[in-house]
Amino acid sequence: RPHRRPRTAAAPEWVRPWSDAEGRRTAVETFRDRFDDEPDLVAAAPGRVNLIGEHTDYNDGLCLPLALPHSTYVAVRRRDDDRVIIASGLEDAPWTGRLEDLGTARGWPAYVAGVAWALREAGHDVPGFELAVEGVVPLGAGLSSSAALECATGTALLALLEVEESRETRLALARAGIRAENEVAGAATGGMDQTVAVLGAPASALLLDCRSWATELIPFDPASGGLELLVVDTRAHHQLTDGAYEGRRRACERAAAAIGVDSLRDATADQVAAIEDEELRRRARHVVTEIDRVDECADALRSGAWDRVGELMSASHVSLRDDFEISCPELDLVVDTAQAYGALGARMTGGGFGGSAIALVRQDDVPTVARAVTDAFAAEGYDAPGFLPAPASAPAR
Ligand code: ADP
Ligand code: GAL
Repeated sequence: RPHRRPRTAAAPEWVRPWSDAEGRRTAVETFRDRFDDEPDLVAAAPGRVNLIGEHTDYNDGLCLPLALPHSTYVAVRRRDDDRVIIASGLEDAPWTGRLEDLGTARGWPAYVAGVAWALREAGHDVPGFELAVEGVVPLGAGLSSSAALECATGTALLALLEVEESRETRLALARAGIRAENEVAGAATGGMDQTVAVLGAPASALLLDCRSWATELIPFDPASGGLELLVVDTRAHHQLTDGAYEGRRRACERAAAAIGVDSLRDATADQVAAIEDEELRRRARHVVTEIDRVDECADALRSGAWDRVGELMSASHVSLRDDFEISCPELDLVVDTAQAYGALGARMTGGGFGGSAIALVRQDDVPTVARAVTDAFAAEGYDAPGFLPAPASAPAR
């Protein structure tokens, strides 16, 4: 157990989700306030947390994310002309442009304008619109507030167009989000976030094969085992457009090229061990072992083997910290503290370099673990972390 005496008595900070009624009300109020009018409809999409399978999506690998109960809400109204106005409760100034400008938006409006642009590119006749954003997914915390914004926007626009709801429509919407993120917002991310935002489900994790894009819902209900998945936002913020994420992506491509395979999904442990460059070898080793861990974790969930799920989570963290080198002191502190206080397993989650960690904790231990992590952060002089309850929840709606 940590020997340091906590320097604080501050209580852990919980980031509570909104009910859909609260989300809808807040988004409608912001819409009225900014546009002095009533919206046609409100749509929502969740943030996500990845249980295991990190930096595998862009390597054609496997991952196992779930939809958070924390969502982003957008209220939208169709216009009769080609103007687009985008407002967020978090931003003073709206973005204003025309349909032809959608692909040129920069900064936060790019996630909304980019989706409208991508849907138009895909042949949807998206009209001019006004849109207001509200939400409770922490920004830049590795919980995919950007994908939540993209998928809420796409859901709202397809509803305006009265496009019929189906798995295909949902996947098309995820693809529009991915294009918005890659080509308009300029973050070279892989597609896990948008996919789970549209295909996740309550009490389930989404096993996603990023080569075939085949998906399977795996039962995920830690409460049935007396457990809870606790998400800890370290509030050490990452920036996916700053090059470090992309650097890892390029390293994986170089490793695959060195082996002579299309992607690391096809690499064997022996081929990885034979990579000459020491750093590339470690990067590739993370990816190849992580894909196996996802497979094993899905099996462990199917048989209710929660101890094994925890072990795999902790092994994933070691691999991300030592081989992929994308952890940071705050993330390591959450993981070490949670483990010291009895978590079955803990790991960083998301893109890395800050953001959030997760711990699989006995329900009775949740207050103790949250307290211990809060105290450990205070003792280091870090900002107080945020705690999110994370029962697997509903997708875009
Ligand atoms: P993450 O997706 O992990 O939260 P990113 O850096 O990829 O982190 O995306 C966060 C960005 O998404 C924010 O910096 C902002 O540009 C945009 N964003 C997300 N939610 C909102 C919101 N409610 N209002 C305005 N912008 C938002
Ligand atoms: C995310 C990114 C995903 C995935 C993840 C790491 O932030 O958006 O596509 O690559 O990092 O597993």
